[in-house]
Amino acid sequence: MMKIMHIVGARPNFMKIGPLMREMGLYPDKFEQILVHTGQHYDSNMSQIFFEELDLPKPDINLEVGSGTHAWQTANIMLRFEPVVLEHRPDWVIVPGDVNSTIACALVCSKLGVKVAHLEAGLRSFDRTMPEEINRLLTDQIADLLFTPSRDGDENLLREGVAPERIHFVGNIMIDTLVRLLPLAKAQWPRLKKLWNLNRYVLVTLHRPSNVDNPAALQEIISALVDISREFPVIFPVHPRTRQKIPTSNLGLEQENLLLIEPLGYLDFLALEHHASLVLTDSGGVQEETSYLGIPCLTLRPNTERPITIQQGTNRLVVCQSATIVKESLERLNSMPNNAIKPELWDGKTASRIVEVFQVYG
Ligand code: UD1
Ligand code: UDP
Repeated sequence: MMKIMHIVGARPNFMKIGPLMREMGLYPDKFEQILVHTGQHYDSNMSQIFFEELDLPKPDINLEVGSGTHAWQTANIMLRFEPVVLEHRPDWVIVPGDVNSTIACALVCSKLGVKVAHLEAGLRSFDRTMPEEINRLLTDQIADLLFTPSRDGDENLLREGVAPERIHFVGNIMIDTLVRLLPLAKAQWPRLKKLWNLNRYVLVTLHRPSNVDNPAALQEIISALVDISREFPVIFPVHPRTRQKIPTSNLGLEQENLLLIEPLGYLDFLALEHHASLVLTDSGGVQEETSYLGIPCLTLRPNTERPITIQQGTNRLVVCQSATIVKESLERLNSMPNNAIKPELWDGKTASRIVEVFQVYG
């Protein structure tokens, strides 16, 4: 029996750990599973709703860390997680993605001699001003097993000196959740369409500090959204970080065609992605999901750690300059949709490949 401890903390972690817990749950004689929530995200629509929609079990342990500076949050997760590891002594701790919970838990384990597996390893933006890039680089250096979503991940890891036998190209586990829940998401569409009277529309998400914590950059983006909304409705579920930064006065946000709403649950958001004419985002997961769905996506960033979404998917990078965002958006809205290829092993079966690796090497 292998004792596996899964870590979740922030919104994008739930879609990655969900499929693995389901798959390991098929072998109750092989895997004993423990779920730890760090509490990095805690609003009901940033956390609880995903437990319900993705059928995740209630966390066995919640560290309830909450928000703070990077050092405060990372250090507090470590302080609260260490006794949990000492008490439960898992054989493996599984950390997804690139958030502060990822590096904090990986670092605790590496010092206690507990093996770490990193889901979504090897992605690189080559931009060390991004907090996530630091989390990715460090987690990959100390992880014992590295599961990559695309072959560029393997190349990055090999170049950084990671032993080849630790690296396993398994595909994109977030797409496992998408494949499983797309039919349920589609069933939400008639209600959403009616609610907001939707036909052709642009879907927006924003939360990168480089975009939303910088008032000049945020102003450029908002003014582009106001312009675009004169021609197409814009629907914008606002991340809590961003909600605090948007000055509600003087920006014309009260416009009927620019809809600022609370963050959505996974099923409603996926339904809106699936029917959007264009998505504007700075999210990692949304770049991948739109590529898989074949929906045009403009990423409001100078770089991406997910180059495959540009090479094979529907994604394009755009500088955060109002006129450029408007021009590129209208161009894409008025052109034929592109024929995206589904990247290799983005097939809904990544969790089963990971479980095979654990059966052999674990
Ligand atoms: C975090 C991750 C980012 C990921 C994103 C997914 C890090 C460094 N960043 O960014 O990589 O893309 O999650 O959404 O780990 N807040 C609330 N309610 C919540 C959570 C946050 O109000 O449930 C507010 C707090 O004011 C907090 C701020 O949002 O200070 C930022 O939260 P934090 O978890 O630090 O970073 P994110 O921007 O959410
Ligand atoms: N998502 C959601 N509701 C929203 C916005 C996004 O459920 O209002 C989902 C989205 O479909 C994807 C994940 O959240 O599965 C992406 O998370 P996020 O953008 O917060 O983080 P990132 O991927 O940038 O780390």
